[in-house]
Amino acid sequence: MENKKNQVNQNSAPIGIFDSGVGGLTVAREVMRNIPLERIVYFGDTARVPYGSKSKETIVRYSRQIIRFLMTQGVKAIVVACNTASAFALEEVKKEIEIPIIGVVQPGAKVACAATRNKKIGVIGTEGTVRSQIYTKVIQEWDPKIEVIGKACPLFVPLVEEGWLKDPVTDEVAYRYLKEIKEKNIDTLILGCTHYPLLRSTVQKVMGENVTLVNPAYETALELKNLLYQHKLENRGDGGEKELKYQFFVSDAADKFKQFANSILPYDIETTKQINIEEF
Ligand code: DGL
Repeated sequence: MENKKNQVNQNSAPIGIFDSGVGGLTVAREVMRNIPLERIVYFGDTARVPYGSKSKETIVRYSRQIIRFLMTQGVKAIVVACNTASAFALEEVKKEIEIPIIGVVQPGAKVACAATRNKKIGVIGTEGTVRSQIYTKVIQEWDPKIEVIGKACPLFVPLVEEGWLKDPVTDEVAYRYLKEIKEKNIDTLILGCTHYPLLRSTVQKVMGENVTLVNPAYETALELKNLLYQHKLENRGDGGEKELKYQFFVSDAADKFKQFANSILPYDIETTKQINIEEF
């Protein structure tokens, strides 16, 4: 009886999702759409964004702190909704915790491999993600014949954080960054930073309709669903209804985050709490 009760409690516990800022909301959005019974505790590290230009050591330290914070919220599983942290920290932190944890790189790479016809895949991401070559490694483990061409687009993150999603300045930046990769004749492009799906229409306009854009967020939500099922951790809606379904925490500028989140989520968030992540 006690076991059953614990299992129900565990099943109704939230999923922890984190990113350096608002980018991971593109993943949270897919979790809300595709596994609607699940509760979410989201953390955006708005005080320390961007992650893309920082070292592996720093990203591992930040990720550890965030995971410690999420554990205090009783999460049952974690999604690293940041490509940079998935590239640099996922393998390290996986060894240190007992609950299931996934990143966004494997799911994105899988969809891209299935989508490419000419075996030329482009990846755009932060400097860290592109430098880590993580997508190349994962993709070529599945199919060594696929050529992977990476391009860092560091200005995309501040443009998204600023809310300049459809703007002539963003168009110009996109043309400059993508020119090189466009000339390589890729047929598939991975949006390898969780901020970038918010610039999808700009990127598509620049790359042309013949290039398939891959947003790893959707596939990540499906992988999470599968993972919860395997671990018998799915929320069956039979407990925890009194708790807040979606909770949002940031390390700075809570109001700005809330406004942004409300403009892209299928649901209006009521509160965003600011915490001192350095305490964890
Ligand atoms: N959204 C993050 C990613 O997917 C990081 C952006 C940043 O903080 O540089 O890599």
